[in-house]
Amino acid sequence: VEETYIMVKPDGVQRGLVGDIISRFEKKGFKLTGLKLFQCPKDLAEACCWEFIDDFNLFNIYLQWLQEHYKDLNSKPFFPKLIEYITSGPVVCMAWEGAGVVASARKLIGSTDPLQAEPGTIRGDLAVQTGRNVVHGSDSPENGKREIGLWFKEGELCQWTPAQAQWLRE
Ligand code: GTP
Ligand code: MG
Repeated sequence: VEETYIMVKPDGVQRGLVGDIISRFEKKGFKLTGLKLFQCPKDLAEACCWEFIDDFNLFNIYLQWLQEHYKDLNSKPFFPKLIEYITSGPVVCMAWEGAGVVASARKLIGSTDPLQAEPGTIRGDLAVQTGRNVVHGSDSPENGKREIGLWFKEGELCQWTPAQAQWLRE
């Protein structure tokens, strides 16, 4: 089954957009299989502003985890700012399931730069800048599985059959 990892970033949570964002995937007809609010521990968030902390501690584990999540981006000049942004407040972590969900979710989210995103998309309707683009979505089915594995523990995901299933697909 195809799965994608969707995350409401700290700006989306602070701006009260969580319900709207969840609602768009729900109404589309995808199946929610995981949902939690996650707050990066405060000392880790502060430590994220530092270039290097060599100790084997929780911070390093968390940073490695974020580097793994953003493994294609960790050499980019904006990477430290991205880590600071993502750890700046609570995020809402979600796993969504359904045939074609990865590409469809990317369409619902819209272009990385909210000013280029089409009206009707999440970023097109709700954001103005790449560095504050309110939501993350996996870019391939492989990354969907990989990211769900990074952000959720076993037992946090829920397998269920929505009552509307027979009305969504013939
Ligand atoms: P995600 O769904 O969040 O992965 O966005 P994306 O797939 O549309 O973009 P990409 O994976 O290339 O970049 C990940 C995130 O890094 C973006 O969503 C932005 O939050 C951030 N980012 C990307 N490019 C820039 C940039 O040039 N400047 C800043 N400040 N942030 C960037
Ligand atoms: Mg991406």
